[in-house]
Amino acid sequence: MSFIELKHIDKQYAGADRKSVTDFNLEIKQGEFIAFVGPSGCGKSTTLRMIAGFEDITGGELFIDGKKMNETAPRDRGIAMVFQNYALYPHMTVEKNISYGLKNMKVSSGEIKKKVDWAVNILGLEEYRYRKPKNLSGGQRQRVALGRAIVKNQKVFLMDEPLSNLDAKLRVSMRNEISKLHRELGSTTIYVTHDQVEAMTMADRIVIMKDGVIQQVGKPMELYEHPANKFVAGFIGSPQMNFYDITLSGDTVTFRTGEKITVPESVISKLNGRQGEMILGIRGEDIKLDEQNLSVYGNEKQQAVVENTEVMGNENNLYFTFGGSPSVARVSKYEISKIGDRIEFILMPSRMHFFDKETEACYV
Ligand SMILES: Nc1ncnc2c1ncn2[C@@H]1O[C@H](COP(=O)(O)OP(=O)(O)OP(=O)(O)O)[C@@H](O)[C@H]1O
Ligand SMILES: [Mg+2]
Repeated sequence: MSFIELKHIDKQYAGADRKSVTDFNLEIKQGEFIAFVGPSGCGKSTTLRMIAGFEDITGGELFIDGKKMNETAPRDRGIAMVFQNYALYPHMTVEKNISYGLKNMKVSSGEIKKKVDWAVNILGLEEYRYRKPKNLSGGQRQRVALGRAIVKNQKVFLMDEPLSNLDAKLRVSMRNEISKLHRELGSTTIYVTHDQVEAMTMADRIVIMKDGVIQQVGKPMELYEHPANKFVAGFIGSPQMNFYDITLSGDTVTFRTGEKITVPESVISKLNGRQGEMILGIRGEDIKLDEQNLSVYGNEKQQAVVENTEVMGNENNLYFTFGGSPSVARVSKYEISKIGDRIEFILMPSRMHFFDKETEACYV
């Protein structure tokens, strides 16, 4: 049975001329870690705040643990939340900031001490316990905000971009901390981020949104391998998937600039007879420059000139123009080239995606 259920949820802010969230449907199982991801303004925070009860629900129904929650006060919903713009109490120490909410919940002082000790320990805040927020770094403050939420020991944990104020290195380590915390506490978690890497690495399932509408819900690799549309294909994965305007005629793909490749029957058959103008998508790691692939797929070899490179050792990107579109290939350290080099490559036929030119829905 689902633990949190959103049924046909709509949100239109007072005075707004359109909905910020439209027909949002989702069932979340107990203990699941769900990420809401999407570009700025797509309705992630609005949805989270409706679940928390800080924002009215315009239409639809919200259930938590089988009970309808539309009209329930936030404090009675059994949730703890870390806000996008969390604010700590400036005049209180770390310890007081963490315990403040518990005092309001009338928890005994012995119990409060136990919980604060646990949270301070788990978040690595021992040395800062008696400091005030102004004497903490951004990362330390963010951990205090997390501490304030985890001590409440609620069934549902909502986090709105909790790592947005941190530098890259701290983000990675806090990402691991939050995942660990989730495994230890087992609380049902909804985590909002616009960072697809955070969503991919932390979530059991990802909800990807655009303009207030869910585009796809699925496990990270499902979204990566089987995107529902071009938006999802482009949003998940870095560097972004390559897209080409093409025409399919029989088993021949013709690019805008005239290059042609033959696509095997195994791929064509998945298109159910669709032909004509489409968008072809292929990820950078599926553009192959190695000897073995070039010899296997020799007849379909293409050429381009490297325009830019990003060489990081484990991750190497070659940028070039092909088929009229900017393109990127992710190559191993053995295929690194320099700017100006002419490269030969193949597009792995089995890894091609085809999208409808009008609706941008993904066929394969
Ligand atoms: N209080 C409000 N009144 C009117 N419109 C609002 C209000 N809050 C948000 N919106 C609008 O609703 C839409 C969704 O906003 P929301 O804050 O949910 O986006 P988000 O996905 O969390 O974005 P971000 O990644 O920037 O935090 C936006 O178009 C925003 O301008
Ligand atoms: Mg937001």
